[in-house]
Amino acid sequence: MKLLITGAKGMLGRTLMRRLGEHDCCGTDLDDCDITRADQVDAAVASWEPDVVIHCAAMTAVDDCEMQSDLAFAVNETGSANVAAACGRHGARLIAISTDYVFAGDLDRPYLESDPTGPRTVYGASKLAGEEAIRAGCADHLICRVAWLYGPGGPSFLHTMLKLGASASELKIVDDQIGNPTSTDAVAGHVQLLLRAPVTGVAHLTCEGEATWYAFAQEIFRLADMPVPLTPCTTAEFPRPAPRPANSRLDNAALRRHDLPAMPDWRAALADFMRENPHG
Ligand SMILES: NC(=O)c1ccc[n+]([C@@H]2O[C@H](COP(=O)([O-])OP(=O)(O)OC[C@H]3O[C@@H](n4cnc5c(N)ncnc54)[C@H](OP(=O)(O)O)[C@@H]3O)[C@@H](O)[C@H]2O)c1
Repeated sequence: MKLLITGAKGMLGRTLMRRLGEHDCCGTDLDDCDITRADQVDAAVASWEPDVVIHCAAMTAVDDCEMQSDLAFAVNETGSANVAAACGRHGARLIAISTDYVFAGDLDRPYLESDPTGPRTVYGASKLAGEEAIRAGCADHLICRVAWLYGPGGPSFLHTMLKLGASASELKIVDDQIGNPTSTDAVAGHVQLLLRAPVTGVAHLTCEGEATWYAFAQEIFRLADMPVPLTPCTTAEFPRPAPRPANSRLDNAALRRHDLPAMPDWRAALADFMRENPHG
């Protein structure tokens, strides 16, 4: 299968390039294909003629998006529209990566694919606009929403913890936000399955099980054998330009509906990651 991966130098893109190496993979990123430029995206898809485009490129710095909303929408909405249009024009299937931030984050259970969206941040609103552009531009699409990602080299919460933990005598960690810590390796494994599965629309792809940031940090330091004293704290103690969702949990209902294997448990995926990448 011929694959084109946008954002191939990013955290998820790098893992996809490695894990999907059995396919004929072409990776692009900002330096050779700026997705805000329709001509560059069209040329990349026209020349490689992929069967599937896996679209990871995005402006992902959530706080920067609040300050630079024009750029956030240019990359996350217009960029996705350009990718979708090129896929539609050249007959490629599109698998696009999205986020839990499309939801308001105030539900008292994990979000289903079918739950109403309601982003509270510029990042979330721009990614949701990107989802809508993908639906409009490419009939043969699958939007995979992921959350709380970590992968080799980062950047991620896990990498911040390992760095801070190396020098701090104590750390305060938010304990009133809940989500599904998810490895890029687990996402890549399921994207690989989805390449051949007739799944369209939206599918949530997060590791099974849930944790607060505090519980996630406890497990990171336990596996890293770093006895860093941790104190739980509230979101209000760490004000940020972009509000963080209290509930980021995603329910992988579409995987179950299509009889696809469950994503790995978050603790097992984290243990695998720490064994293979002890320094992150
Ligand atoms: N990380 C998470 O926790 C998380 C959670 C939920 C969803 N997601 C989604 O997962 C996907 C992958 O995220 P990630 O963590 O791998 O992000 P990442 O490391 O920031 O990778 C994104 C890549 O896209 C590139 N890019 C930015 N603007 C571009 C443009 N105009 N044209 C082409 N490439 C451009 C970036 O280049 P520069 O680095 O040079 O800007 C970067 O290499 C994104 O769609 C993101 O929204 C991530």
